[in-house]
Amino acid sequence: MKKIAAENYNLPLTLLQSKGNTSVVPLNWEKHVLYLLDQRLLPHEETWLSYRSAKDVAQAIKDMVVRGAPAIGITAAFGMVLAAYGLKHKNRDLFVEKWLEKAAFMLQARPTAVNLKWAVERLEKLARRHYELSPGDLTAILEKEAISIWTEDVRANIAIGFHGQALLPETGGVLTHCNAGGLATGGYGTALGVIRAALSRGKKINVIADETRPWLQGARLTAWELIKDGIAVTLVVDGAAGFLMQKGQIKAVVVGADRIAANGDVANKIGTYTVAELARANNIPFYVAAPVSTIDPFTPSGDQIPIEKRGPGEITTFAGKKIAATGVEVQNPVFDITSHHLITAIITELGVLTPPYGPAIYACFS
Ligand code: MRU
Repeated sequence: MKKIAAENYNLPLTLLQSKGNTSVVPLNWEKHVLYLLDQRLLPHEETWLSYRSAKDVAQAIKDMVVRGAPAIGITAAFGMVLAAYGLKHKNRDLFVEKWLEKAAFMLQARPTAVNLKWAVERLEKLARRHYELSPGDLTAILEKEAISIWTEDVRANIAIGFHGQALLPETGGVLTHCNAGGLATGGYGTALGVIRAALSRGKKINVIADETRPWLQGARLTAWELIKDGIAVTLVVDGAAGFLMQKGQIKAVVVGADRIAANGDVANKIGTYTVAELARANNIPFYVAAPVSTIDPFTPSGDQIPIEKRGPGEITTFAGKKIAATGVEVQNPVFDITSHHLITAIITELGVLTPPYGPAIYACFS
């Protein structure tokens, strides 16, 4: 991993711009090198890191250099391309065997977002289907597929924006939690894509971002990327959402997802469930925006979704300084489950899914 000067590594920018959209993108792929915008340093520093090995890419996902379900899926796919480039075996059987071992390692990087598993398994299936190819040809096919995974995600987000914007109010506050924007995807974003599309169609909505403790995805990332795109955003502490709802300042909630179970239960950033309950108590629609790659039809309900737990330091320290009493016990689950009962609609690139979610989700795969 090498630190390089900030530059504009925006490969799908052309695709976004050709559709009249703007957004930051969190990665780029150029001449067998993966570049990641280091999201740990935003909003203070725009630093791009370069990656040449699958092992370093898996570590970058674990360390949250890149985060957000679709973005880590795309990153993992390019990590697997790097794995293929890194294997020197001329023997095809040995090449595939070693490559599959690296895929198993990549799958362990983060457990909750299904996009990582989805992307790696998509490449695995392709590799098995083209088992007869030479290592060189197989590597070329894998690289093409990773680029497709990225481009398809950008297209999906634009479609999600198109379908979802109609659901947002003409005026008033729209609350989002965590960061489900360009930074969390291939570009444009899911929840923020819906907001971008509504604004570009002239809706006068005020974007309200939860700060999203403890990693501050809302304060650091959502606020940064919206302001960069000229979109006004109001930051609130996570605990303020209920009060703002009572005061009529929030007309709708739209969030992203890390995994959607077959019954429509949604795993998303810790605190999402609280917001969903508050939305129900205040009669406010609660929307989830996600590509079909975030739906896991093999997981029956939210109970079976693995929830990542991260270290206590994310809560007990801030910017390197201790903020909690020495000796305190800490729990740091970083995702929670929102029951499908609390979700007004799930916005996908294929259209808007409404309850009952089981059959609607099934139809996405048939
Ligand atoms: O821990 P993170 O920052 O990876 O969590 C991200 C989220 O929870 C997002 O809301 C989700 O991945 C959707 S991103 C389009």
